[in-house]
Amino acid sequence: MAKAPSQKGSNETVTLTDNATGKTAEFPLLKGRLGPKVIDIRSLYAQTGYFTYDPGYTATGSTESSITYIDGDKGVLLHRGYSIEELAEKSDYMEVCYLLLKGELPNKQQKEEFEHTITHHTMVHEQLTQFFRGFRRDAHPMAIMCGVVGALSAFYHDSTDISDPQQRMVASYRLVAKMPTIAAMAYKFSVGQPFMYPRNDLKYAANFLHMMFGVPCEDYEVNPVLAKAMDRIFILHADHEQNASTSTVRLAGSTGANPFACIAAGIASLWGPAHGGANEAVLAMLGEIGDRKNIKGYLARVKDRKDPTMLMGFGHRVYKNYDPRAKVLQKSCHAVLKELKIKNEPLLDLAMELENIALSDNYFVERKLFPNVDFYSGIILKAMGVPTSMFTVLFALARTVGWIAQWNELIEDTEQKIGRPRQIYTGKGRRKYVPISKRR
Ligand code: CMC
Repeated sequence: MAKAPSQKGSNETVTLTDNATGKTAEFPLLKGRLGPKVIDIRSLYAQTGYFTYDPGYTATGSTESSITYIDGDKGVLLHRGYSIEELAEKSDYMEVCYLLLKGELPNKQQKEEFEHTITHHTMVHEQLTQFFRGFRRDAHPMAIMCGVVGALSAFYHDSTDISDPQQRMVASYRLVAKMPTIAAMAYKFSVGQPFMYPRNDLKYAANFLHMMFGVPCEDYEVNPVLAKAMDRIFILHADHEQNASTSTVRLAGSTGANPFACIAAGIASLWGPAHGGANEAVLAMLGEIGDRKNIKGYLARVKDRKDPTMLMGFGHRVYKNYDPRAKVLQKSCHAVLKELKIKNEPLLDLAMELENIALSDNYFVERKLFPNVDFYSGIILKAMGVPTSMFTVLFALARTVGWIAQWNELIEDTEQKIGRPRQIYTGKGRRKYVPISKRR
């Protein structure tokens, strides 16, 4: 996997002056191919004795990367230079996986070989089924995913040596290939149905639908429109730069942990409602609002600074404009509902009305809060019959390729070190230990 040449080099510097002492320190200014300039503060502590404070990393670049680019002000998302809109319309998920992992779109033969490899890694070790049976029947599928994906490192010892590029690639293929199988098994376990084996004659998204909705006692015919919609959902979630779960994967990876453990860490991080769990939370929110007439009252709660209620599926750390993925999904919503001959989907009507009202409300306009990818994805998934508890699982399934591509990039990046932020200590100063007999 060739690493793109660094675009960072620049002769510009930034000088910081300590107003207290008058001392100055100079720092290089870096520039990527796209995006704003970046101050390289790696020598800050050595030069000044200070370090920086940036909770939530709102102004911190943790890595250089050649995979994904976001311009949050313009609502642009590019994977390896290709726009998400074009990929969603013209490409398919397998091709996007290849692009993310290898840096270029595959030619016909490369695509066939890649799909063949992924298809022939979709089965999981048979003993994993017993691992599943250890979970309570009412376990949340994301809890199952965290456990089972972490456990893959106990099953595939021949692909955990991270210093071997071949093992890293096999682990990458295994993760992309087995995630739909594991996700479908998590669902089947929760509804008490038999696990379905993957079918090698089906494409990636269709195979997932087969394993999720099929049963062994009859043939399941995959609806091509639904398979296409699912494939598109996978494309839209494939990667998103240094978000919380990807940064979690990178942080775990920076310690030298094996890829299965790192991806399990990413799944755990994705689960939260501020991140991938938002798609599930959006449906809960729409259910709570229930009717158009309650939108204003709900938004009043959202805007009340003393009330913790958030408008789920709205807002983004980087996008201060419409999330381009949400635009594609909104269109897909209509296509899927039409195919399913659902004339009126009250949840979609409610979501669109909510969006219209929010986008003309000063609270949201001033804060540049727009719908994000999670606002519409749940509505499509629900129309396709996917239970709410599986929404975040599907996000994890699709994001696995992004995580693993970013993990590979990290391992090959000679500038990377173990991730280890600092802190501002606000606890007690040094004090004497008091024996328990003398404590009050
Ligand atoms: N509803 C109400 N107010 C909001 C929302 C929201 N959804 N999002 C942000 N704000 C307010 C926030 O309270 C703050 O107001 P103020 O300046 O008065 O304190 C202002 O907007 C700026 O927000 P922030 O908290 O500084 O933004 P952030 O970058 O820290 O948080 C976010 C980003 C995505 C965590 C947040 O917008 C949020 O929690 N949204 C709802 C959950 C959601 O939809 N998450 C999915 C994100 S996209 C997919 C993914 O990454 O998984």
